Amino acid sequence: MLVEPAARIVGHVAVPGDKSISHRSLLLGALSPGPTRVYGFGRGGDTESTLRAVRALGAFVDDRDDRELVVHGGDFRDAEIDCGNAGTLMRLIAGLLAGRNGTYTLTGDESLSARPMERIAEPLRRMHAEIETTDGHAPIRITPAELRGIDYELPVASAQIKSALLLAGLRASSPTTVVEPEPTRDHTELMLEAAGIRVTRRPTSVTIHPGEPKLDTVRVPGDISSAAPLLIAAALLPGSDLTIHDLGLNPRRTGLLDVLERMGARIAIFDRRREGREPAGSVQIQFDELVATEVRGEEVPAMVDELPLVALLAAHARGVTRIRGAQELRVKETDRVEAVADALRAIGARIKTHEDGWTITGVPARLRGGRIDSRGDHRIAMLGAVAGLASREGVQIEGAEVAAISFPGFYDLLETLVQR
Ligand code: S3P
Repeated sequence: MLVEPAARIVGHVAVPGDKSISHRSLLLGALSPGPTRVYGFGRGGDTESTLRAVRALGAFVDDRDDRELVVHGGDFRDAEIDCGNAGTLMRLIAGLLAGRNGTYTLTGDESLSARPMERIAEPLRRMHAEIETTDGHAPIRITPAELRGIDYELPVASAQIKSALLLAGLRASSPTTVVEPEPTRDHTELMLEAAGIRVTRRPTSVTIHPGEPKLDTVRVPGDISSAAPLLIAAALLPGSDLTIHDLGLNPRRTGLLDVLERMGARIAIFDRRREGREPAGSVQIQFDELVATEVRGEEVPAMVDELPLVALLAAHARGVTRIRGAQELRVKETDRVEAVADALRAIGARIKTHEDGWTITGVPARLRGGRIDSRGDHRIAMLGAVAGLASREGVQIEGAEVAAISFPGFYDLLETLVQR
């Protein structure tokens, strides 16, 4: 796909429902007797994998409406579950299935099969789960076990590991405590509380008490990670004025808004409210001149999926931007440290990689443009589209269709906002 240069981005828009919350609504819905009504469900390749997964386990899901579904959970049957490209699904469902009565096999696509899975299997084994990986990767096999609670300090800041242990903790004979090096997204905690589970929260740890969740209604706000490419496009194009409505604003997800503001973009947040327990609101962004910044490790979890876009932003901001503490990007759908550096270099940016991030020398001018390979990674494909709008000659994206993993209709929506 060729994305041609644009003058500016203008308009009002809403983005698909949050992917993290959508996955969790189906997984916890499948554990609940139901009916669990989910409003604003975010459809995409990854959440379709979760829909198939809970159905394979025996849940009944009525999904006649595009953004609304009803889940009837219950007992699980033995299943082989194809998690597709979805790391969140594989890790969370492993925790959910450990300590149940059945035998389950989890598989994934080529990218997911290369991602580390001992990070969940090892602590789950400490809980006495029977779980085997294949040399540290998928396929994963889970067989019946009686779990006990543990105290576990996460070796890396990962909401997926934390969530896997919390979901396993539902079935343990005693409470489970997870200590986090940095606060990561807490959608699992909030949804478990909404489902009547006792969750004790402290600044750096969380304890779950065993129980049977009974989820009722879930309202899914818009996905800030899907809003991110639109926000960045507006931040890059002079004269832009964009408002995104019904957006999730959980403070553990909004690091990008802080960075945008710090770099000079004009941001206004209004209509703040809660969707269920999740903070939500509307965000307006207007272009202003951009300056370089510094992103440190403790900020990373709150914008981990947006960092590729921050790198693109930095390439257009006056000065040298350093992004560090982002080593987790190396184990995402691709090695995003390398994928982003290769993509940005290919269109004319000056970027140097480190084990844990990048140093980017920004120039407040359009990059030349060129060709970007998504490498099958949805976030890299969308990065390419935004880079194209802000370039002189446009960007040709190889493998553009993978954007549908998290954001079906992304390119069409973008075009409705573009002025050339
Ligand atoms: C997610 C957590 C993050 C994020 C991923 C979704 C989640 O991963 O990158 O896209 O829904 O819990 P880690 O927790 O592994 O950093």
